[in-house]
Amino acid sequence: MTKTDMLIVGGDGDLALRKLYPSLYYLELNDCMPEGTRIIGSARTAQSQEEFLAKVEKWLKENVKKGLYDEEKWQRLASRLTFAQGDATNPESLKAIEETYLDSDAALVVYLAIPPMIFGKVCSALDACGLAKETTRLVVEKPLGDSEESFVAINAELARVFSEEQLFRIDHYLGKETVQNLLALRFANDIFEPLWNANHIDHIQITVSEEVGVGNRWDFYNQTGATRDMVQNHLLQVLCLTCMEPPAKLDADSVRTEKLKVLKSLKVIGAKDVHHNTVRGQYTAGEKNGETMPGYLEEESDKYEIDPNSQTETFVAIKAEIQNWRWSGVPIYLRTGKRLASRHSEITIHFRKKKHNIFEENHENHASNRMVIRLQPDEGIRLRVMSKVAGLDAGIPLESGCLNMFFAEKGEQQKHDAYSRLIFDVLRNDQTLFVSAAEVQAAWQWVDQIFQGWEDTGMRVQNYPAGSLGPNGANVMLARDGNEWHEIDTL
Ligand code: BG6
Repeated sequence: MTKTDMLIVGGDGDLALRKLYPSLYYLELNDCMPEGTRIIGSARTAQSQEEFLAKVEKWLKENVKKGLYDEEKWQRLASRLTFAQGDATNPESLKAIEETYLDSDAALVVYLAIPPMIFGKVCSALDACGLAKETTRLVVEKPLGDSEESFVAINAELARVFSEEQLFRIDHYLGKETVQNLLALRFANDIFEPLWNANHIDHIQITVSEEVGVGNRWDFYNQTGATRDMVQNHLLQVLCLTCMEPPAKLDADSVRTEKLKVLKSLKVIGAKDVHHNTVRGQYTAGEKNGETMPGYLEEESDKYEIDPNSQTETFVAIKAEIQNWRWSGVPIYLRTGKRLASRHSEITIHFRKKKHNIFEENHENHASNRMVIRLQPDEGIRLRVMSKVAGLDAGIPLESGCLNMFFAEKGEQQKHDAYSRLIFDVLRNDQTLFVSAAEVQAAWQWVDQIFQGWEDTGMRVQNYPAGSLGPNGANVMLARDGNEWHEIDTL
C-alpha cells in the first residue's frame, strides 16, 4: 500500500475532535492503521504542536470507550499527528502547508471537517495550488444541503474539481457493524432470499429512537428537523440495504447502483398523502425516571433565541412504499425522534401469517414470524418462531420463542466505531460504503416532496411528552393498516 497523508481541514474543530481523532485512535488500537499514514490537522488558529497534541490526548483520555485508552497506542498515533496552521481557502496558505508538511510521494486524502458553505472555496484553493491531483481523495459529510437544489449546488462545487471516484460522502450509519451485517445476512445466507419479498413479508419497520434532546444545537436543528437530519440520509440508507436487489458484486458501483434503484422507486408522498402517510411530532416537557426534561421550545440556549412558534419536527414517522416487482404493496414504516423513551435502532421484518392455519384453537397466540435486526445497542438478530408449550396439555398449544444471535457476547465492547471503519475504507480507497451523488440527490427529491406536502397542507406537528414513545398519531397511522410499532425488548 502506498503511503498516505491525510489532511484534516478543520483539524481542531468539533467534528475532528469528537469523531475523527477517536476513530483514528481506534484504527491504531486495532493495529489497522495502514503503514506510512500521516495525519495533518490544519486550522486557522495558531497553536503549537505540543498544545495540539495535548488537546487531542486529553479528549481521547476522557472520551474513548471505557477501558480502551492505551498509552502506547496513543503515542503511536501522536507520532503520526502534526498540526499545521493555515487557511485552507487560500491557495498560498495551502501551498505552504504542502511544502512544510506533505510528502509529494504520498497519496493525499483531504477531509473537510468544516461547514459545507466553504467546501467550494477550499476545493478551488486545492485546485489552484495543485493539490487536487488525480489521486487525491476528498471526504465530506452531511449536511449536504437541505434540499435537492442546495445539494446540487454544493455538489457542483465539489465536482468542478474532483471526479465522483475521488469523492467520499460519509453517512456514518454505513460504518455501523450491523448495517454492514445486513449485506452478510441477506446475501451470504441462502435461506432468507426466497422469503425476502412481498409474497412473504407483510411489512417492515425501521426505527431510530434517541433519548437525547437537541441540546445546544437548537439553532441548527430548528432549521433542519428530524426528516432532514435523519431520514434523508441514515434511515433511507438503511432502507436501501434492507430492500435492494442483490448487487452483481460487492463493489462500490454495483452496491450504489442497486441502492439508487430503491430510492428512485419510492412512492412519492405529496400533498394528497401526507396526512395518511406521515406524522410530525415535537416534544414537550416530560419526565423519565423521576427526572424532568424540558420541551423543545424550552430547551436552554444561551446562544440562540428560541422561536416559540417553531413547527420543526423532532419526531417523524413515514409510511413509505417501494414501487417495484419485489416490494409493491409492502408498507415500510420509518420512525425517528429525539427525547424518546429509549435509545435504540432496529429494523423489524414482519413476515406474513400462513394462509391455512391448522392451529385454529390457538389463533390468539399464533403470532407471525418476525425478524428483529438490532443496530444498537447490543447489535444482533432475533427471530421470533412459534413452538409448542411443553407439557401434557391437550392438542398442540403454541407459544412464541426467540432465536437469538448477538454479534458480540452481551456486554462485550466493540473496539472501534462507525467512523473508524469508514476512514479505514477511505485510506484503502474503497467507496462501497460511501454514498454517491445520485443517491443523495434522489433521497432529497423524495424528502422535498414530503416537505412540499406539509407546506401545501399546513400540516402541523403533534406534541409528545419527552421520554414517551412519540405522538399518538404514529400509532394511529399503523393501526389503520392493522399494524402496531414494534417496541424494544418485545418479541
Ligand atoms: C447524526 C444526527 O447524523 O446522527 C444527530 O445529526 C443524531 O442528530 C446522530 O443524534 C445519531 O447517530 P447515532 O450513531 O448516535 O445513532
